[in-house]
Amino acid sequence: MTDVIRPAFTELDLEAIGGLKGRVVVLSEGGTKMDKGARRVNRLMRGALARCVESEAFDKLKPGQSTTLSYPGGMDAKSVEVIKIAPKMTPEIARKVGGTIGKVLTGEEVTLLGGSERLLDQVALAATLRAYAFNAHKTGEAAEVKPASLTVMVNSTDAYAASVDGIVAVAEGVFLTRDLVNEPANILTTTEFADRAKALEELGVKVEVLEEADLEKLGMRALLGVGQGSESPSKVVVMQWNGGEAGTKPLALVGKGVVFDTGGISIKPAGGMEDMTMDMGGAGVVTGVMKLLASRKAKANVVGLIGLVENMPDGKAQRPGDIVTTMKGDKVEVINTDAEGRMVLCDVLWYAQERFEPVGIVDLATLTGACIIALGHENAGVFSNDDDFCKTFLKAAETEEEGAWRLPLGAGYDKALESTKADFKHVGGRPAGATTAAQFLQRFIKDGTPWIHLDIAGVADLKTATTLAPKGATGWGVRALNRMIADTYEG
Ligand code: BES
Ligand code: MN
Ligand code: ZN
Repeated sequence: MTDVIRPAFTELDLEAIGGLKGRVVVLSEGGTKMDKGARRVNRLMRGALARCVESEAFDKLKPGQSTTLSYPGGMDAKSVEVIKIAPKMTPEIARKVGGTIGKVLTGEEVTLLGGSERLLDQVALAATLRAYAFNAHKTGEAAEVKPASLTVMVNSTDAYAASVDGIVAVAEGVFLTRDLVNEPANILTTTEFADRAKALEELGVKVEVLEEADLEKLGMRALLGVGQGSESPSKVVVMQWNGGEAGTKPLALVGKGVVFDTGGISIKPAGGMEDMTMDMGGAGVVTGVMKLLASRKAKANVVGLIGLVENMPDGKAQRPGDIVTTMKGDKVEVINTDAEGRMVLCDVLWYAQERFEPVGIVDLATLTGACIIALGHENAGVFSNDDDFCKTFLKAAETEEEGAWRLPLGAGYDKALESTKADFKHVGGRPAGATTAAQFLQRFIKDGTPWIHLDIAGVADLKTATTLAPKGATGWGVRALNRMIADTYEG
C-alpha cells in the first residue's frame, strides 16, 4: 500500500531553525505581525521574510496560497515557503494550507513552524492526504522517490500528542481506497480485491469471502448474471468490525465492486473505457472505511459488504432481454447489460438485511453517468428514505468538505421500471437516470430500514487534482462516513 507519512509534532526550537534541512514552512497573515518562529527566520534571512510578507504580491494571495524563497541566506534550508493564512484559522483554511504543503511533500524534510496557530492537526492531516502518490507501476527514478517527513513545530505539543495516531488512521483508510481505485483491472481482479480485503484481518476485522457456489446457493442470480462473462470469479466479501456493544445491530455499508465495466454485450464506446477500472469505487470506499474503523478501534458495530464482479462481453455473458431472479425473489428483465451496478447491489443489499438486520444501510456505487450530468464532479448524489439519517450524513460530509447533494426519490418514477414480461426491468431510460437507478435499489430495502444510496460516479476519480488529492482516485466518502459513525454510533 502507498505509505502514509506520519507527521511529528515537536516543541518549537528556535535554535534549531537555522540548521533545518529541506523546506521550512512559515504561516503569515501578511503585514508586520510575526510569531517567534517567523521572527527567527526573518532575522536569519536578514529581513527578507518581512519584505516578502509586507509586499503587495503577498497581500494579493488567498489563504492557503504561498510564495517560496529559495536557498535562503543565513539558513541551511533549501527553501522557505510562506503560506498565507487569515486572522482566524478555520477547518477550510487549515485544509488549504495542508494541501499546499502536501502537494510537494516528496523526498524531502519539511518543517512547519506552526507556533500557537490553531487546527495544526487538520493542517497535518491535509498535508498527509495531499502527499499521496500512486507509484506502484512506475519503474526507475519515479519509483525510487525517497519518503518525505513532516515535522510541525508548535509552542506546546500537549494538544497534539494524541492526534497523530488519528491522523495516520484516517490517511491509511483513504490511501487504501485510493490504491484500490487507481489499480488497473489486470492487477485488481475480483480475487486480488478479496485478498486485499482479507488482509484487514490483521487489524481485527472479521473477513469472509463468499464464492460463486455460495452465492448460487443464496440465490444471488442478479449479481452472478453480471459476472458470468468474466474469467474472474464473482465474490461477495463480508467485513465485520465489532467494536461496539455486543449484540447491538450493526450499521451496514454496501459497495459496488465492478473491477472493470466494459458494459458487457451492451458494450461501451472505446473512448474513455479505460476509466472503468474505477467502477469498484463504492467497494473501495467501504473497504477503506473498514480499515479506518479498525485502525482507530472505533466503538461501533459496522459491517461492510462488497459485491465483486467483472462485466465482460463473452459467449457466456448475459444478454439484453435476459430475465433473472434476484435473491429477494423478484424477476428482473435486463434491458442494458451496462446497467450492471444495480444488479450487483440489489442482491448484496438484500443479503445484508437478511443476515444482519442492520440499524441502517449506506450503499456506495459509481452507478450512473446521469448523476455526473446532474451534479458534475463537485457533489455525489445522495438518495434516502429517511430524512434524519440523511441529514446526519449530509452534515458529516459538509464538515469534511466532501460534496454531497440530495436528489429525489418518488413513487412517480416507478412507472419507468415497468416491464411487460417480468416483475420489473432494471433501467428507466434517460430522464432522471440517477433517480430511477436509486428507485430500483429501493425495491430491495425493507420497510423501516433507514437507507442512504450514494452515487459516487462523479467524485470517486478525478482528472484534476483537488486540495486533498492528486489527480486520480479521491477516496471521497471515507472521511464523511467515518465522521458520521463517530458522531452517531459511538455515543
Ligand atoms: N459504471 C457506469 C457508470 C459510470 C459512468 C461511472 C461514468 C463512472 C463514470 C455504470 O455501470 C453504467 O454504465 N451506467 C449506465 C446506465 C445506463 C445503461 C442505464 C450509464 O450511466 O450510462
Ligand atoms: Mn455499466
Ligand atoms: Zn458500472
